[in-house]
Amino acid sequence: MSSPTHASLAWIDEELSSLDRQGLRRQLRCRGGAQSARLLLDGRELINFASNDYLGLASDPRLAAAAAAAATREGWGSGASPLITGYAETHRRLERHLAEFEGTESAVLFSSGFAANAGTIAALVGRGDLVLTDCKNHASLLDGCRLSRADVRSYAHGDWQQLGRLLSRPGTHRRRLIVTDSLFSMDGDLAPLAELVELADRHGAMLMVDEAHATGVFGPQGRGLAEHLGLEGRIPIRVGTLSKAVGSLGGFVAGSRSLVEWLINRARPYVFSTAMPAPLAAAALAAVEIIRDEPHRREGLLTRAAELRRLLAAEGWNLGRSASQIIPLVVGQPDRAVRLSQALRDRGLLVPAIRPPTVPEGEACLRISLTYGHTAEMLQRLIEALRGGCDKLARVE
Ligand SMILES: Cc1ncc(COP(=O)(O)O)c(C=O)c1O
Repeated sequence: MSSPTHASLAWIDEELSSLDRQGLRRQLRCRGGAQSARLLLDGRELINFASNDYLGLASDPRLAAAAAAAATREGWGSGASPLITGYAETHRRLERHLAEFEGTESAVLFSSGFAANAGTIAALVGRGDLVLTDCKNHASLLDGCRLSRADVRSYAHGDWQQLGRLLSRPGTHRRRLIVTDSLFSMDGDLAPLAELVELADRHGAMLMVDEAHATGVFGPQGRGLAEHLGLEGRIPIRVGTLSKAVGSLGGFVAGSRSLVEWLINRARPYVFSTAMPAPLAAAALAAVEIIRDEPHRREGLLTRAAELRRLLAAEGWNLGRSASQIIPLVVGQPDRAVRLSQALRDRGLLVPAIRPPTVPEGEACLRISLTYGHTAEMLQRLIEALRGGCDKLARVE
């Protein structure tokens, strides 16, 4: 049964038509079966270069078994926010495990990485404070900045020198917070963490790093870019997500005991939202153990990513500053990205086009997301499809 748009919402249809005209309207597509390197989308089998399941854990039976056991033990729903009665044994075990994994005093779970970021920023700064944010930070960090009501200054992507100038300006702010992604989700490049740590120390600012795409992938133990660079002890606020390489759902903040106590008391998405179901926490717990015990997953992934970047660059593709498993093919205009994505899809390869506003105007790209499940043969198919004429489509004016 169709329900006509209420007159007060007529503007929505106009806005949607405008998105259509600009080629910017997004459509949901329905996956059949599990998330993996090969997937069924709208009934068609495709090689999947469009997931954040970097270590291939989302459909690992060990996670499903852990979740099922927790559901039997603790039920499915958690029924209340953590401070009321939603916090269960499995949450506590996972938090302790995450703190141990991250080498911090404490850790706290949120129901998503988005909630962790937005809630943490707004709990740390408010009116009269200053937050400094990389202009390419994830939407959850940007929304946290807005929610906080602190003054917000955005610095050019990765431009720590500009950040230094902003920090040097005299001001009357009570507290200052620098926030950055460690591995940028659209460009696949890395934040200059060593420089940010120095600046934060020199200027007495707090530093918060979101490791969403690096957790499980970077660092000898898979703890992220901070571990990879030996900077963990110098970053007091570390955020991770359980929704990407960890293969489950949720977010966490790792840091000192007092930081975690403060967030439990003051982060609004923590205080005013139902706790994540215990089975999700149980699956994440199983995944963190796999990440610790199976380093070949992250090592294999990063080796293959470096090889793919080398081959694509040799074919003349513009990969921006990618240095990770996220590899953009920058083609400029949105319609080119869409045509190229469609041509690849016709050849059985799913590589999404990323367009404004997700990326700035003129930086539309195809975003290749590599995972542990991709075989050498799958990568070969991608390279050949790009070489075999799809690339011309991308370059046609
Ligand atoms: C850099 C970054 N941080 C945080 C998030 C949010 O994490 P979650 O998906 O767990 O909400 C994302 C999600 O795409 C992300 O890319």
